[in-house]
Amino acid sequence: MKAVTIPRYGSPDVLEIRDYPNPETGVDEIKIKVKAAGINFADILARKGLYPDAPSAPVVVGYEVAGEVLEAGRDAGDFKPGDRVTALTRFGGYANRVVVKHNQVFPTPDNLSDIEAAAIPVNYLTAWQLVEMSGLTRHDTLLIHNAGGGVGLAVIDLAVKKGARILGTASSAKHDRLRARGLDICIDYRKEDWVQKVLEHTGGKGADVIFDPLGGAYWKKNYQVLRKTGRLGMFGISEVTESALPGVLRFIPMLRKLPFYSPIKLMNDNKGVFGVNVGKLWREQDKVSMWAKEILKGAAEGWVNPHVDAAFTFEEAEEAHRYIENRRNFGKVVLLPDG
Ligand SMILES: NC(=O)c1ccc[n+]([C@@H]2O[C@H](COP(=O)([O-])OP(=O)(O)OC[C@H]3O[C@@H](n4cnc5c(N)ncnc54)[C@H](OP(=O)(O)O)[C@@H]3O)[C@@H](O)[C@H]2O)c1
Repeated sequence: MKAVTIPRYGSPDVLEIRDYPNPETGVDEIKIKVKAAGINFADILARKGLYPDAPSAPVVVGYEVAGEVLEAGRDAGDFKPGDRVTALTRFGGYANRVVVKHNQVFPTPDNLSDIEAAAIPVNYLTAWQLVEMSGLTRHDTLLIHNAGGGVGLAVIDLAVKKGARILGTASSAKHDRLRARGLDICIDYRKEDWVQKVLEHTGGKGADVIFDPLGGAYWKKNYQVLRKTGRLGMFGISEVTESALPGVLRFIPMLRKLPFYSPIKLMNDNKGVFGVNVGKLWREQDKVSMWAKEILKGAAEGWVNPHVDAAFTFEEAEEAHRYIENRRNFGKVVLLPDG
């Protein structure tokens, strides 16, 4: 089999295609012929050596694929060769063959292409968990940062379904497309004071629910514009890429901006804070599987609309990573093993 490999940490040009022995299929596992593999921001961080969860280089990253079952172990459920499936992979997704536990594999709805299906697992599971933990309702005003990213678009789908009012930050080139997907108020965080804008659009009270993938200076500002009874969900630290310091030293400026939410303060402020990392939920596979089934049902019903901005071949993996790093993507970017 072949896989796009991070042989050592560095810029996108380190990525290379390598050959590996074909993986064996265990009794409770499914072997998949990958048609499309999703790229996530975490993969970019892993390539730079800034993602502590990833195995050290050389490594094949990738958390999600869509394709066709090649082989199913005897205790691997009802899957059979030829079935179209979408799967979560614990690394190793940037490959033309993957072998995964059967409870990480789900039938692909007929109305989705493989490319669209590969855009679902990470973005929508993250969004689902954020919405679930926040208890978002139609009475809430939600603020989603990085609204034009893959997770941002997934959150918008779920928040529209809930009937919430949605504010989002994104660069202005993405605003028209965000409005078309259901964002009520777009804030250009590069040119506008987003804190001021959120207060303006919430009668000075702040947002009921805030989802933040950026971290750093955003941690304290989010808390500041969180309405009383509000819930703040944190799910990323994209701001770490902004530092010019080398390697893990980049975390130092971020650590200096860490907020402190004491129980007494939270009680007196009537606010809730929580964190989300779907990459740390491998021991909660039953819950994750239940969410994945709900999401794929939503896709079959049409209210989950994965948006793929661009697809690159394995040979173009370097370009794909650059596309994301240059912040050109609106939603998902995928890799195609067979061009
Ligand atoms: N905790 C979890 O389980 C989990 C799961 C998935 C993703 N995440 C995290 O969520 C974040 C977003 O992921 P995603 O897949 O939605 O991202 P994505 O699709 O790659 O979105 C990237 C977009 O983020 C915006 N952005 C704002 N500040 C940025 C910065 N400092 N560096 C890079 N991009 C920045 C840019 O849009 P503009 O044009 O608007 O500037 C950029 O185009 C990442 O931090 C990722 O690690 C966490």
